[in-house]
Amino acid sequence: MPARIRELPSLLVNQIAAGEVVERPASVIKELVENSLDAGATRIEVEVQQGGVKLMRVSDDGHGIHRDDLPLALSRHATSKVTSLEDLERIASMGFRGEALPSIASVSRLSLISREAGSEHAWRLDADSGDLAPAAHPVGTTVEVRDLFYNTPARRKFLRTEKTEFGHIEQVVRRLALARPEVAFQLAHNGRQLFATRPAADRAAQERRLAGLLGEAFVEQALFFEHAAAGLTLRGWVARPTFSRSQADMQHFYVNGRMVRDKLVTHAVRQAFQDVLYHGRHPAYVLFLELDPVLVDVNVHPTKHEVRFREGRLVHDFIFRTLHQVLAEERPAAAEPAAPSVSAAPPPAAASAPPPRQPGLGLGVRERPADYGPALAWQAPPVPAAEPASEPSAASEPERDEVPPLGFALAQLHGVYILAQNAAGLVLVDMHAAHERITYERFKAAREGEGIKSQPLLVPVTVEVSPREAELAEAHADTFAELGMQVDRMGEQVLAVRALPALLRDADAERLLRDVLSDLAMYGESRRVLESINEVLATMACHGSVRANRRLTREEMDALLRDIERTERSGQCNHGRPTWTQLSMQELDRLFLRGR
Ligand SMILES: Nc1ncnc2c1ncn2[C@@H]1O[C@H](COP(=O)(O)OP(=O)(O)OP(=O)(O)O)[C@@H](O)[C@H]1O
Ligand SMILES: [Mg+2]
Repeated sequence: MPARIRELPSLLVNQIAAGEVVERPASVIKELVENSLDAGATRIEVEVQQGGVKLMRVSDDGHGIHRDDLPLALSRHATSKVTSLEDLERIASMGFRGEALPSIASVSRLSLISREAGSEHAWRLDADSGDLAPAAHPVGTTVEVRDLFYNTPARRKFLRTEKTEFGHIEQVVRRLALARPEVAFQLAHNGRQLFATRPAADRAAQERRLAGLLGEAFVEQALFFEHAAAGLTLRGWVARPTFSRSQADMQHFYVNGRMVRDKLVTHAVRQAFQDVLYHGRHPAYVLFLELDPVLVDVNVHPTKHEVRFREGRLVHDFIFRTLHQVLAEERPAAAEPAAPSVSAAPPPAAASAPPPRQPGLGLGVRERPADYGPALAWQAPPVPAAEPASEPSAASEPERDEVPPLGFALAQLHGVYILAQNAAGLVLVDMHAAHERITYERFKAAREGEGIKSQPLLVPVTVEVSPREAELAEAHADTFAELGMQVDRMGEQVLAVRALPALLRDADAERLLRDVLSDLAMYGESRRVLESINEVLATMACHGSVRANRRLTREEMDALLRDIERTERSGQCNHGRPTWTQLSMQELDRLFLRGR
């Protein structure tokens, strides 16, 4: 005979709900602090003992709870925040279920002390006994949670060490403090204060607060931006890709002030960073997305960590495009994209003289025949045809006495670094890394535009390969064409390179072919290759870059500096390493203990 159906006792109902809402001490803190925020608090104090298991106390200066409502606050499905389905569909508060306090109270010893403005004193409600008594407390609310899971030993067993549990609490409080710069937060563990943040009114104060919560290094490396379109706003800080981390531990994303860990969001951010991050590295960011609450459903996950966007595609694209743009603009400060004519013109030092004949810059293995086009691959403007021939003077005359952002080259150090002087002081450039990025961006632009220009070799280069590689090359004739290369099979195990991309005309054809072949082998059939074409282009860009120990003339160095200034994402090479750095006069003075 089947068991009869009965209603569950309310304590058990709450304990079941607590199974979803209260996973560990940190989840209690999250719920209590969110309640304080919903109450309009400007100051929130969190006090914890023994990793939260012994005591968690959250005090705020919010609007408090009316005496008669105190018992309701602890009963299930009682809330002051939502009254109708319409409310539920446009939630602006953190809470809406009326579930947190009763759930927590069912697995701990909880008391609630609260005072509303205008009332003579506070009231204290003891959840276990139901006793309600006058108490001393300023306007606002304090919730005390003692002996978490004392009556649910099975759950208690899942708790980790005091240190681990407190670590989670600290993380939660930090995340909430990041979300609400206008609120002061304090956190103490076992009587020791961990941090106290003051309200931050302007951006400078917010960045000081960020430094306190996430470390100085983050703020130093972070780019601030704000962008609004189509009713969506994204603002916040992203760390330059060079500040990437080995773990995804500095990723803070808020949707209408609520911290979320959302797949769609994470994916959009990752994609925006794809081009500028080492494989396996994680970006660092604090980002705030604001949109009409109607367009986002927060009622999809028990801990509200996930959300559902009504127009997921739109939100994804907005996040991706915005960040992509922010990262693309990461180049020397105030770098106005130079008119193509400026870069095509001889460098300022030789403005009136004809450009000197310059040696080839690529791998420098063989001398380049004189009729190979522009003297320097990197001096060629990205789109030479765009230069208007009819406007000679006004647009094309470079400003002589204005120092460009990266300044002018002074010297080359050990064939690796370029030293340049700009307005702020000294600029150091890793010439290989910088050139690699420039070549890569140029390849991408060419491929998306008119296609990668190919340059026939005067003497084809024959390369011995394995039969498998020969077949691969044959099967990928189209891919090679797309890459600006022409590779023919000459025999069972022989290939001939007949043309190279014009940008790589000085590259070592044999090594380039071998590298591209190994990429092709890795990416398998040709459709995958097209998806991975940027990675192949990155491989090729590496071949085009100036090697260490190549002597550059001053003009070549200046040309490289100008190219960095107008190339997107030029702050990092294709692997996410920095390409240049600035040492200001102040920093140099400090090295020499010079007072200024
Ligand atoms: N710190 C506080 N200050 C003022 N009122 C509070 C505070 N904490 C709780 N309350 C009141 O108690 C009610 C119940 O809180 P509880 O957290 O259980 O539910 P909720 O916040 O409405 O929804 P959710 O379960 O989604 O958190 C709230 O709706 C609010 O009216
Ligand atoms: Mg709540």
